[in-house]
Order: sequence, then C-alpha cells, then structure tokens
Amino acid sequence: MKLRPATSDDAYRLFRWRCDPATVAQSVRPPPATYEAHQIWLARTLHDPTKTLWLALSTDQPALWLGMLRFDRRAENGMAEVSIQVAPDQRGKGYGQRLIRRGTLDYVARTGVRTVWAWVKLENRASQHAFLAAGYELVDIDDPFDLEDIVRQRGQGIRLQHGAPESTIRFCKFEYAST
Ligand SMILES: CC(C)(COP(=O)(O)OP(=O)(O)OC[C@H]1O[C@@H](n2cnc3c(N)ncnc32)[C@H](O)[C@@H]1OP(=O)(O)O)[C@@H](O)C(=O)NCCC(=O)NCCS
Repeated sequence: MKLRPATSDDAYRLFRWRCDPATVAQSVRPPPATYEAHQIWLARTLHDPTKTLWLALSTDQPALWLGMLRFDRRAENGMAEVSIQVAPDQRGKGYGQRLIRRGTLDYVARTGVRTVWAWVKLENRASQHAFLAAGYELVDIDDPFDLEDIVRQRGQGIRLQHGAPESTIRFCKFEYAST
C-alpha cells in the first residue's frame, strides 16, 4: 500500500466513495448535494493547512485504489481527528486496518501531532475492529453493553473516559497516542 496526497484530479473518485450508501450510513454529515458542492469542499480542504487528505493505492496492482484517510488538526489542542473510507469494492480485505495504522504512523511522524482520535458509530463494527486492530484504544462510548461486547471480542484492555458526545447518534471514540 502506498499513500499520496489527494489532488483536484481525485475529485470524482472521492465523490463516488463519499456517496456510497454504506459510507453515507456511517457518516455524521450528509453527502454533498451536488458534484459541484463536492468540488468546492475538496478545493477548500486541499488549501487548508490544518487538513491532510491522502489516497491509498495498491503497490501490487497498478491503479488499484484502496481508499482515503483524512486528518483534521485542531489548533486548540494540537490533536487531530481522523476519518477513513475504504473503496467500496475493496472492503473486508484488511485494507481498512492497514490504512489506518500506516496513515496514522506517517501522520504523527510528519506533523508531531501526538494524539489522533476517531468517532465511530456504535453499529459500525467493521470500523471499530479496524481501529482496534490498527493500534487505537477505545476511550469513550455511550453504551456499556456494547463496550463489553467489543472488549470481549478483541480481548483488549481499555481506558474509559466519561462524557458522551452531544448527539442523538450513538458513537464510540477511539484514540491513538504516540509514545
Ligand atoms: C469501516 C471500514 C473503514 C473498514 O475497512 P475494511 O477494509 O472494510 O475492514 P477490514 O477488512 O480492515 O476489517 C477490519 C476488521 O473488521 C472486521 N469486519 C469487517 N467487516 C465487518 C462487519 N461488517 N461487521 C463486523 N466486523 C467486520 C474484520 O473481520 C476485521 O476484524 P479483525 O481484525 O478482528 O479480523 C470500511 O468498511 C469502510 O470504508 N466502510 C464505509 C465507510 C465507513 O464506515 N467509514 C468509517 C467511518 S468511522
């Protein structure tokens, strides 16, 4: 897998991934209303120094697109939020966890950001597994029964903090702290 920064030439590919029904279902925000709105969002993102948008490609198969990773650095605390999409036809093959792990290590090494977090919907088991497998820890959740289930499945220790996000959607929060 190799990562490269997104460019405006990636607009349509990113738009298709963003409008994929599974991605829409797992996103907090609705998809862009039009392709033009998406292009405006991409142009802003590419020019925003607090945002990092990478695309992942296969190193074995030329022109095989694996997915995208976006980091949003928050000026107020020097931490960053990550979000991920694996290309719809490449899901369930282990790329998600590899992309998160590889991208996070690259990102913290390049930026010096020490803590990266992700909000994941409580029903998004694939994403939860991918973040845990990539070395993130579950740090917050608003449903203790699901928490126990995840811990049981992964057999991992967790560090729980209090305070659920202000939303009616139920999330869990994963965090990566670089040493
Ligand atoms: C969520 C997503 C990033 C995961 O990436 P992926 O490449 O499909 O997942 P992987 O193949 O790396 O699998 C990760 C883990 O989830 C498990 N998994 C995969 N699909 C699953 C499913 N539908 N339900 C439960 N577990 C699942 C895998 O077995 C693996 O667990 P393991 O390490 O214990 O074996 C990807 O499916 C995706 O882009 N989905 C749509 C957008 C999205 O949900 N983004 C994340 C928003 S927080």
